[in-house]
Amino acid sequence: MKAADQHARIHAIPSGFSRRHLLGIEGLSASEITYLLDLADSYVDLNRQINKKLDRLKGRTLINLFFEPSTRTQSSFELAGKRLSADVMNMTVHTSAVNKGETLIDTAMTLNAMRPDLLVVRHSASGAVQLLSEKVDCSVINAGDGAHEHPTQALLDALTIRRHFDRLDGLTIAICGDILHSRVARSNIYLLNRMGARVRIIAPPTLLPPEPERFGVEVFHNMREGIRDCDIVMMLRLQSERMTGSLIPSTREYFHYYGLDREKLSLARDGVRVMHPGPMNRGVEIDSAIADDRAVSLIHDQVEMGVAVRMAVMDALSAHLRNDLSKEI
Ligand code: CP
Repeated sequence: MKAADQHARIHAIPSGFSRRHLLGIEGLSASEITYLLDLADSYVDLNRQINKKLDRLKGRTLINLFFEPSTRTQSSFELAGKRLSADVMNMTVHTSAVNKGETLIDTAMTLNAMRPDLLVVRHSASGAVQLLSEKVDCSVINAGDGAHEHPTQALLDALTIRRHFDRLDGLTIAICGDILHSRVARSNIYLLNRMGARVRIIAPPTLLPPEPERFGVEVFHNMREGIRDCDIVMMLRLQSERMTGSLIPSTREYFHYYGLDREKLSLARDGVRVMHPGPMNRGVEIDSAIADDRAVSLIHDQVEMGVAVRMAVMDALSAHLRNDLSKEI
């Protein structure tokens, strides 16, 4: 499809998202999620063309403000912004005045004074991105706050699953590993429950939050039981940087009980697919033989969907930018 036709197709999708910020999945309706996934689907097609550029964010400024390391999220927001013709700036926090003791809010207010339109923020503290969104004038996207939420990850995971299975409802999806520290798990649980999937979580008791059933999931401590008859097995990284004590006896023992290998995966449903948000700890939570097997692994598809989802989210939030512009005039 030509870029002009693609533009016309995307332009023709009626806006189904009227929020200023994307801070989390909790609270989004099924129709808002479906709108973002449908829009992202059209961006997957665009991203597979030679000419990947549209002018949806022409004249807008996007700032990536990452207080924690990132490969996938930061680079895909940067690419997404550039493909929509925004001016993109990546703040390198470790060489910024944060190193001289400037606070999160002072940093954000300083950037806000430069009149960006979109601020993409990752921070180690749960709730930090929400707090920041209350101080600035632009749209804010949560790129991961502590163990709270990582909404664009859940959207890209949902898009990956929906494109493979043609649906989300009725699927059985096991999320396995360090649930306690995982913003990816929380956002996925909210989204998958909202869209009618059955969610299981599998972890040792030390890696689960208190009363995990309150999230509307089935809880398993035995991976072989939890994985049985699943359509999707989503593996999570052990987040040792967030652990204050020793929560597992050893990584070797952890792999024995909770690492995904062919023997455990054989208990899942025929046609099962494996996902991982990355970065992976090979041989700790997942065997390389599974991670690299394109017949079962959707890990590369997840990365591809990440760019499309971030384009869709920024496009959807830009309805607000357009409203602000009409007020200015
Ligand atoms: N999945 C994810 O958030 O990866 P990065 O930390 O590389 O952004």
